[in-house]
Amino acid sequence: MKRRIDFLIIGSGIAGLSYALKVAQHGSVCMITKANEDESNTKYAQGGIAAVMYSPDSFDKHIQDTLIAGDGMCDEEIVRMVITESTERVNELIAWGATFDKTESGEYDLAKEGGHSEHRILHHKDNTGFEIERALLAAVHTHPNIEILDHHFAIDILTQHHLGEEVNSRTSDIECYGAYVLNLRTNKIETILAKTILMATGGAGQVYSTTTNPTIATGDGVAMVYRAKGRVEGMEFYQFHPTSLFNPAESPSFLISEAVRGFGGILKTIDGKEFMHKYDVRKSLAPRDIVARAIDNEMKTRGDDYVYLDCRHLDKNELIKHFPNINEKCLSLGIDISKDLIPVVPAAHYMCGGIKVDNKGRSSINRLFAIGECSSTGLHGANRLASNSLLEAVVYSHQAAMEAIEKSNSIRFCESIPDWDAEGTAHPEEMVLLTQSLREVQAIMTNYVGIVRSDIRLQRAFDRLEILYKENEALYLKTIISPKLCELRNIINVAYIIIKHARARKESRGLHYNVNYPKTTNYGS
Ligand code: FAD
Ligand code: SIN
Repeated sequence: MKRRIDFLIIGSGIAGLSYALKVAQHGSVCMITKANEDESNTKYAQGGIAAVMYSPDSFDKHIQDTLIAGDGMCDEEIVRMVITESTERVNELIAWGATFDKTESGEYDLAKEGGHSEHRILHHKDNTGFEIERALLAAVHTHPNIEILDHHFAIDILTQHHLGEEVNSRTSDIECYGAYVLNLRTNKIETILAKTILMATGGAGQVYSTTTNPTIATGDGVAMVYRAKGRVEGMEFYQFHPTSLFNPAESPSFLISEAVRGFGGILKTIDGKEFMHKYDVRKSLAPRDIVARAIDNEMKTRGDDYVYLDCRHLDKNELIKHFPNINEKCLSLGIDISKDLIPVVPAAHYMCGGIKVDNKGRSSINRLFAIGECSSTGLHGANRLASNSLLEAVVYSHQAAMEAIEKSNSIRFCESIPDWDAEGTAHPEEMVLLTQSLREVQAIMTNYVGIVRSDIRLQRAFDRLEILYKENEALYLKTIISPKLCELRNIINVAYIIIKHARARKESRGLHYNVNYPKTTNYGS
């Protein structure tokens, strides 16, 4: 049996939920999500959402900061569009029920993070994402046109190729009609046909061994679009957050928000010495690529496993008031942030590249939109400015929704799509092989395609990954579909694209640092 839906949304983070609220007045909405409905990168966002609220801040300052962080690779027109819409879109989030902290005088209590020249981060204590996800889900639940199918895993999008068809005044030869979705409650694969499809599947931190991303972040959307021959770009720019809590027993890694450095926290080596002045005049508040590389360099040259974040000089009550969850987490490990140094290491955090989209969130595949972390809009360039991603998601949910609403009336369902064919597949003989392969990919990416790269490391990564790719494709063809198998396949696909794009970039730029090509641009420093 096939379902027919006007607007199909894959993913229930900030991107999918805010888009759902916009298109729901115009047709039936089905949102599928592979785990519990709130599980997403969004839920774990700490620092907040960047927006221009009051003077002395201005759109121009925020635009300039974004361009500088992006190391000359941002699309300036897109930056301008996103930043000038920031105030309106954030006010919309507030109207949907999200609350942000205020000062005693009633103004928003704006925080500062790396690369920002002004205080402009709206936040809800240190768990802003949790609050946004809560508010958006509550709003979505009240809408009669929106159905959420949790524990439904999108395996692949349904596409057909047509030669040279004129689409939205662009020529696209690929058309998307919906998705094959594994219902994890029945273990049946359903065919969902839709007039328009939104990819909002988030990031891919699980490609690396150490990441701040939850286990759902396996790059499924990028892998699906890549397999369907859609355009994917900028994947060499994987952002490592400088400060995740050093606690090797825990995965994913717990984040120590950049807002802690914005509040005055200072990075130090294990012997208590400051080091960031050697790398950048902005010291601990330089853009992320610079800080993560500096920490990596200090750890490698000194042979240390971590560096410290020092907050002992800060006002204790204010520190705990602003960062109650970080305080609680550290206390649970015996670290009192007002008295002890916090051990931190960089961790894979944000996918700056992704599915290439235009200013309306349209991908290179007709009817398929992509927004949020899985997309590449041109906003982040070679390095995302902190707290610009939640903003990008809400601005693009608006852009994409307006376009999808306008187009959907003239689109018909495609009835000729066959149901999933599971003939000839069997249960896997050894599930442990999947777990081992996953660890191998993560180790390859961490060891050879991390913060610092070289041509020889990238070549080695490519050769090692090819073996895993062939093994996994063979397994995929003869095995009954499971989320673990699909996620491993997606992770291998995404790792392959990251390596391919990294090998193609013959320079060091933003987050992509290759020792064979010393950095020549100076945007970020
Ligand atoms: P997500 O929120 O990740 O949602 C993706 C959804 O897709 C999930 O529901 C997932 O289950 C679903 N999904 C994925 N694959 C499939 C599939 N195959 N089938 C069905 N469903 C699928 N950004 C900021 O701007 N400010 C911050 O302070 C900030 N802090 C952060 C802190 C942490 C610890 C992390 C991890 C990220 C942080 N970020 C921050 C980044 C930001 O949270 C994300 O970029 C953003 O939330 C992504 O939203 P999204 O809707 O695109 O994806
Ligand atoms: C943080 O709180 O440090 C995360 C901010 C971000 O990733 O934008």
